[in-house]
Amino acid sequence: MGAPCKSAVVKLGGGLITDRSRPETVDENMLRLAARQLAEYVSSGGRIVAVVHGGGSFGHYRVAEALRGRDSLVPSDAPAIQYSMQLLSLRVADALLDSGLKPSIHAPHTFCLRPGKCWYDVLARDYALGLTPVTYGDVVPDGLKLVVVSGDVLAANIAEALKAECLVYATRVPGVLDNDGRVVKVVNTAAIAGLAMEGYNVTGGMKAKVEAALRASIAVPRVVIVGGENLYRALMGEEVGTLVKP
Ligand SMILES: Nc1ncnc2c1ncn2[C@@H]1O[C@H](COP(=O)(O)OP(=O)(O)O)[C@@H](O)[C@H]1O
Ligand SMILES: [Mg+2]
Repeated sequence: MGAPCKSAVVKLGGGLITDRSRPETVDENMLRLAARQLAEYVSSGGRIVAVVHGGGSFGHYRVAEALRGRDSLVPSDAPAIQYSMQLLSLRVADALLDSGLKPSIHAPHTFCLRPGKCWYDVLARDYALGLTPVTYGDVVPDGLKLVVVSGDVLAANIAEALKAECLVYATRVPGVLDNDGRVVKVVNTAAIAGLAMEGYNVTGGMKAKVEAALRASIAVPRVVIVGGENLYRALMGEEVGTLVKP
């Protein structure tokens, strides 16, 4: 068992905290379980640099709706998708408040000019004040296009920019699974070549998550992909889920 993470960016998968089979439905039990574990981590002396959540049956559903009969998003699609993600972020903040944390929500479309051009200063300010910055996967206009800012990539970039010690991706599966369905203990660039990973949503599912995690692992000391019920253990340095190494 390793040492507990002194500071961490935590990504709560959209598939973890929502019910993917129903539009705009939160999995309250799972969300609250995650929130309690985050609060427990803070009680144990951990510091949460940011909580980033995915789109699940909120954002991904609205994106799919906008893409019906089209192959790309345009800026006029933004309001419905952004609204849906803001609704989910309120639900996340509600669960965090109930567990005793002090969440402060930041919408990426207000701090990112486009993907890859984001300013994290306001998140850093709130983190320094002892608040828990909450942000999420979003859509941001880029010229005449509307592009998806993936929560997985955003979490990686925040962890790097704000120098978090750990980056933990909580998801509905217990980690990266091998072709027999067993959890892979350590994943690196060489190891992913032989793994079957289907990306089935707009931000690429597990494959894109592993790619974002791998990129982050060059700068972030500890990067883990873990089942939602093992979030606290992962934050406390236990060997659960999949450790991602460059
Ligand atoms: N090799 C794999 N290991 C683990 N999950 C995989 C793999 N291949 C495909 N998946 C799918 O990817 C999903 C995780 O990606 P995603 O749904 O985007 O999660 P999240 O909502 O947490 O971002 C898993 O629930 C699983 O269905
Ligand atoms: Mg995902």
